[in-house]
Amino acid sequence: MAGLNPISAPAALPPSTLMAAPVAGSNTDFAASLAAARLPVADLAEPGRTFFAYQTPAGDGGIYGGYEMIEGHGLIRSILVPASLRDKGHGRAVLSALLAEVKAAGAHDVYAYSPAASAKFFIHHGFRELARYEVPPAILGARIASLTCPISTAILYRAL
Ligand SMILES: CC(C)(COP(=O)(O)OP(=O)(O)OC[C@H]1O[C@@H](n2cnc3c(N)ncnc32)[C@H](O)[C@@H]1OP(=O)(O)O)[C@@H](O)C(=O)NCCC(=O)NCCS
Repeated sequence: MAGLNPISAPAALPPSTLMAAPVAGSNTDFAASLAAARLPVADLAEPGRTFFAYQTPAGDGGIYGGYEMIEGHGLIRSILVPASLRDKGHGRAVLSALLAEVKAAGAHDVYAYSPAASAKFFIHHGFRELARYEVPPAILGARIASLTCPISTAILYRAL
């Protein structure tokens, strides 16, 4: 994959071996992978979203993650690790890289929309699941909210 860059991790975490490259929201492989995992795709190509594709040193790909900036809040989304590559720390590395990205973009805190089944992944990394009334209107009104089921989707929050 051309244009790969090593991703960074906060000091408390081991350095990641994943390599990152920007991926366009209009990329069909990216959208198909997210759709197969039942993650939102309808707004991927809209402005204001930043996505990355990641590759292991062995050349395994199909690992993705991205974020939006909404009124000073970071919104992390579209993290996907293929089932065959899970439980090896790749999700943690992607999340760490995205936290660093939103911080560098000026976010003062960070939210995530996640399938309920993956909420514990975020909680494991310092996020707290919020009740809808606790969520700022800007995050509740994010486009991704209209693309996800409110019952099976968790909204998570973390300070940066
Ligand atoms: C959630 C997901 C990204 C995790 O990826 P992963 O590469 O398996 O995660 P890691 O191996 O980095 O796990 C990091 C830690 O989180 C924990 N963890 C991972 N998934 C978890 C889950 N579903 N529930 C609870 N803990 C979880 C791991 O046990 C590990 O803990 P440890 O550091 O104490 O060993 C992956 O399961 C996935 O792609 N799911 C489908 C898409 C999705 O729901 N994305 C998230 C919202 S956009």
